[in-house]
Amino acid sequence: MKLLIINGPNLNMLGIREKNIYGTQTFKDLEKYILDCCAEHGVEAELFQSNHEGAIVDRIQQAYGVIDGIVINPAAYTHTSVAILDALKAVSIPAVEVHLSDVNAREAFRHISYAGMACEEHYIGLGFEGYRKAIEYLVNKYR
Ligand code: DQA
Repeated sequence: MKLLIINGPNLNMLGIREKNIYGTQTFKDLEKYILDCCAEHGVEAELFQSNHEGAIVDRIQQAYGVIDGIVINPAAYTHTSVAILDALKAVSIPAVEVHLSDVNAREAFRHISYAGMACEEHYIGLGFEGYRKAIEYLVNKYR
């Protein structure tokens, strides 16, 4: 089983950006956390982070036929990108949405999630743990 974990813009700045919201752990810490979790479950993982909407669309399209599940935190593109929504729908790979912070308790513009409309499950406001839950959701789906 092979999972693709996609992180959108500015998540590479974890540990530096808005520590009161996103905490002090770095993006490197997050990548290690995700890889460790996938290893625990015997799952192959590919990590992808980009600050560019088109690059995320390209990566989702490339997953067609080769990836069994997608964990995606589209970051700010969550709230704006119909292109990422359409890409997820186009490949129809089971996808799970993750957000570190509780977007529903923040500004109104963060309450809409386009990508989330193509996702089977959503883990929001759980910090790193959300990625673990998303990975476990996909592992259990194929069990
Ligand atoms: C985020 C929430 C988004 O609203 C924001 O733009 C991000 C990170 C989160 O993980 O909490 O960059 O996706």
